[in-house]
Amino acid sequence: MTNKEIFKRLYQVIRPYQFKLIIAMLSMICVAGFTAAQAYLVKDLLDKIFIDKNLFYLKLLPFVVVVIFFLKGIVYYIYTFLLEQVGQSVIRDFRVKIFNHIHEQSLTFFNSMPTGTLMSRIISDVTLLQQAVSNALVGVVRDFFQVIFLLVVVFYMNWQLAMISFVVLPMAALPIVKFGRLFRKLSTSTQEEVANISNILHETITGHRIVKAFTKEQYEGNRFFNQVRNLFSLTIKDAKYRCIQHPLMELIGGLAIAVIIWFGGIGVIHGNSTPGTFFAFLTALIAAYEPVKGVTRVNSTIQQGLAAATRVFAILDMKPEIQDKENAIQLPAFTTDIEFKQLNFSYKDGTQVLKNINLKVPVGEAIAIVGPSGAGKTTLTNLIPRFLEVTEGSILIGGIDIRDVTMKSLRDQIAMVTQQTILFNDTVRNNIAYGDHAASEDAIFQAARAAHAYDFIQALPDGFDTLIGESGARLSGGQRQRISIARAILKDAPILILDEATSSLDTESEREVQKALENLIKDRTTFVIAHRLSTIKNAARIIVLKDGVIVEQGTHDSLIAQEGEYELLYNMQYK
Ligand SMILES: Nc1ncnc2c1ncn2[C@@H]1O[C@H](COP(=O)(O)OP(=O)(O)O)[C@@H](O)[C@H]1O
Ligand SMILES: [Mg+2]
Repeated sequence: MTNKEIFKRLYQVIRPYQFKLIIAMLSMICVAGFTAAQAYLVKDLLDKIFIDKNLFYLKLLPFVVVVIFFLKGIVYYIYTFLLEQVGQSVIRDFRVKIFNHIHEQSLTFFNSMPTGTLMSRIISDVTLLQQAVSNALVGVVRDFFQVIFLLVVVFYMNWQLAMISFVVLPMAALPIVKFGRLFRKLSTSTQEEVANISNILHETITGHRIVKAFTKEQYEGNRFFNQVRNLFSLTIKDAKYRCIQHPLMELIGGLAIAVIIWFGGIGVIHGNSTPGTFFAFLTALIAAYEPVKGVTRVNSTIQQGLAAATRVFAILDMKPEIQDKENAIQLPAFTTDIEFKQLNFSYKDGTQVLKNINLKVPVGEAIAIVGPSGAGKTTLTNLIPRFLEVTEGSILIGGIDIRDVTMKSLRDQIAMVTQQTILFNDTVRNNIAYGDHAASEDAIFQAARAAHAYDFIQALPDGFDTLIGESGARLSGGQRQRISIARAILKDAPILILDEATSSLDTESEREVQKALENLIKDRTTFVIAHRLSTIKNAARIIVLKDGVIVEQGTHDSLIAQEGEYELLYNMQYK
């Protein structure tokens, strides 16, 4: 992405705040004008008061000074506050935009983007970007005007001297250009390290139990230390260049002042100039050099911001792999059947996971899918709500290809209990009501009862209002699974997908949940992936999946009689 493109896109983001920015800039220009006026006052101070001993000016000048500082203070406040406000608005907008964008992405996006990386994009990159926009870019504009006004004062005072300083000062541009590229490169590496650190943090904090169980504290500590050390050396490198800039610029400024003292002094001694003019000139020049020095500091911020913008825009440019068609229709209420037609599916890396799946599930049927792990059961069920897109063939619901309907209308008709139980850091009540925040207390209780979760929830310290800790740490695996079942029950969707929904339950509660699920399954079309084959013995039809192929199907008894894959699986578990 070129700088020009980045600026163009940033402008789009800032556009809603244009008016505030213009006011801020006008205030900035006033600040710059007042700064120039301050420098100009030095001339009157010296010539009229100290040399001419003019009493009138002595009375006037303190008053003028106070007024100028006062007015400058007001406009300064206006512009800094407005800038801060616009900057923070941009941060807010960007974060919301990235967040929404991320949640439009398909499963494959999340497989390829580690959580920590995404978090650092939303949190730290966006901040870098804002700093570049509001502090740096706008600072440059302010400084530009300040320099212009001060130069007017300088030329007005003594144009010959002004010309001389113009020979020396451009040297200041060299370090600015030279360091700019370095800063940008360093910033990119720095942010990569920040993302790595977020990833380690995320992994080890959510996986703290595994770290403990494998006594890997030291190992993770070292891993973290290495990352932090990488970040440290990059930051120090950055600091090295940043810190050298200031003395370098001072030196160049000192050179300029030395030259001015020499030629200006000659002028005053020969009577071509007054001391007041000379000092006002020097004050203005020093004041004008201040922003030039500032550019070097601001430059590193701008470079960091541009690098951050590149990363942020890269995420925003990722099109969701699976999107609604332009003329997608609403999926009508499901009443007939779901059909998998010559379906093939491969993941991105090219390995084919499902091969030539042909399956028709009439409404109301509960179909069980069994097979060794890695057979493709989860993948098959992820295709139904379009978490993944079929590679070849199609899935039809009531004869309509699921690619022709809106994802919202499709997913509204599907309830899922996933293999990994995901609960949010919220109350038990809100977790159950996740699919319908307006659900009545009664409905929530009923769902909990049906999932055989009601009793243990009531026994929690705050009952249904108990907060679930990070990933539901305060509940047992079986309890968490029952809450997620209650959540699916409450959604009351015609199509139900249970992916090893009872795998974390002990035999006792499994039997209970089994009863609940049987109630649930009754009027629904259900895909049950079962880990324990005893739980699906009664299913009307069992599909045996092996290496992505349907190798057998039938009832429990007919499959046992076949003495094939199913019998093998069954014997492994129960003999
Ligand atoms: N995101 C992914 N990218 C690439 N391969 C995957 C991905 N997810 C699963 N697989 C592979 O697809 C196959 C089927 O996985 P899965 O559907 O989870 O099996 P099951 O649920 O039957 O245990 C496995 O070989 C697995 O390694
Ligand atoms: Mg699975």
